Amino acid sequence: MRVVATANLPIDLAAQVRAVLPAARVEVPVAGWTGLAALDLTAADALVCLLLDRIDAAVLARAPRLRVIANCAVGVDNIDLPAAAAAGVIVTNTPDVLTEATAEFAIALLFAAARRLGEGERLVRAGAWPGWRLDQLLGMQLAGKTLGVIGFGRIGQAVARRAGALGMRVIAVGSHEPVDPIFAAADAISLHCPLTPATRHLVDARRLALMRPGGILINTARGGCVDEAALADALASGHLAGAGLDVYAHEPAIHPRLLASPRAVLAPHLGSATTEARTQMAQLCADAVIAVLTGRRPANVVTR
Ligand code: DGY
Repeated sequence: MRVVATANLPIDLAAQVRAVLPAARVEVPVAGWTGLAALDLTAADALVCLLLDRIDAAVLARAPRLRVIANCAVGVDNIDLPAAAAAGVIVTNTPDVLTEATAEFAIALLFAAARRLGEGERLVRAGAWPGWRLDQLLGMQLAGKTLGVIGFGRIGQAVARRAGALGMRVIAVGSHEPVDPIFAAADAISLHCPLTPATRHLVDARRLALMRPGGILINTARGGCVDEAALADALASGHLAGAGLDVYAHEPAIHPRLLASPRAVLAPHLGSATTEARTQMAQLCADAVIAVLTGRRPANVVTR
């Protein structure tokens, strides 16, 4: 049996697989991440991959023996799930273990955008801080404000709990429900929905216009949920006071007008980037691979 991973994991995948299947061959890149294009998948029974790996019908066709794809992420928009199901390949993801990390990061971005932390840091580092001023970089106080949470699954609920503890009023909605009233009523919106055809550009120019002047948008979900050009317009016009973004439509590329916007706090997709979360995500992938290769049904199956 052969297990191929596109990335070096923070656990010893090879040792774990071989402890159960001593004859298994486990191919893990020596360092970092190896794009799928460079890998020979002909004999692969199991694949551990990252959200950077686009798995479509063409990739599946290169892996005729494949039985399981363990995606080291909760989002599975990088995988053509119907094509995987048609090929008889089980796809698993890594829910729960990254909930707290991602919720913490969404709140970090909310604070950073509301209190203009990026602008402040740039001012200091540029040696341009003239000293304390009464009217310097005034932001939005979060206590007493309304946070709109779009996508009320595990992460959305974890963000809501934290926002409540900050004294915010929380209004939440599933991404399949009408979202316009949330845009109209919230001072800040935080996205926690998966990227699907229905949620692509869920945040568009019309919905941004519905937001209160001075509103804030936080996105730790997927970049494709936001029309980035429309967001750049809303920031440039001053209609939105800020945005905290961790995800982008075409990572690692970032829309040039978002890059140029001083009011956008831009993070490099760090939502689940804690040692705890990433180690447990990798462990779930190893568990899924071992389960399938030993004839058991894995946890967290996302294919129908
Ligand atoms: C996920 O798991 O989908 C996250 O985006 C990774 O940080």
